[in-house]
Amino acid sequence: MSDPLTVRRVRFGWPDDLDPIWTPRTPELAIAANSVSMLMPHAEPYVVASTRAALGEGLIADPELAIQAQAYVAQEAQHHVQHRRFNDLLLARYPSLARIDRAEAWVFSKLRSRSTRFGLAFAAGFETIAFVSARWVDKHMGLLREADPTAATMFLWHLAEEVEHKRVAFDVYEASGGGRLRYWWAMWMAGWILALGALAGSLAVLWSTRRIFAPSAWFRLIGWSLSFIFVALPVMVVSALPGHHPDDLADPIGLEHWLDHFDPETSTVAEYALP
Ligand SMILES: [Fe+2]
Ligand SMILES: [Fe+2]
Repeated sequence: MSDPLTVRRVRFGWPDDLDPIWTPRTPELAIAANSVSMLMPHAEPYVVASTRAALGEGLIADPELAIQAQAYVAQEAQHHVQHRRFNDLLLARYPSLARIDRAEAWVFSKLRSRSTRFGLAFAAGFETIAFVSARWVDKHMGLLREADPTAATMFLWHLAEEVEHKRVAFDVYEASGGGRLRYWWAMWMAGWILALGALAGSLAVLWSTRRIFAPSAWFRLIGWSLSFIFVALPVMVVSALPGHHPDDLADPIGLEHWLDHFDPETSTVAEYALP
């Protein structure tokens, strides 16, 4: 069993005049990342509820895995609380996002009516996509040059913890009975929900900011989407093969030791800074 996960209770101070386009050199990156952020207070409570249900239903016989699952739940709960605070600023600035927020809430309310095993498969698949997102960002750190440090730190802290807990949801799913077909199906569903949510949120803000008419915006977003698919698809395929485990995936090196700088006294992580 790996070391126990660390539960960090981080705090981010958001200025009232935060520029929601927090990557001024590549505005579309913030627009896309913010759209993913909008999904987190819906997707992460679902994986938390599914894992808690597994704990409550006694599906996790291994006491060490149960401890890891509780820490995983605590990390995810921190993520969506922080994203919700950030999203409130986005909603105040772009009221058109409210409709998308409601649609995302509806989607996850429907998912909650499904079985615990499906919820655990969804959590495992969602974690695979979160891991490849960390890999993609790690390869594209240069895009964060001149980014707002607080916003960049929130996203990087989240991604670093996604790398840290990459195995837990998968192990919980396996402990509940597992099954690669259900995992495969749930992972694709998670991928489509994330992709469509990101697209809808991005289009709403591109429209509000009139960037929707800028060819450069489309060029960047399509290029990033294709490169993300190029990073994600092989991992998604390999992860569904018999015998594969998330531990087989090499961690992105840039994010690997970043969490070592967490300061429990101030509840802060090292602030992002790229020269
Ligand atoms: Fe998370
Ligand atoms: Fe996660």
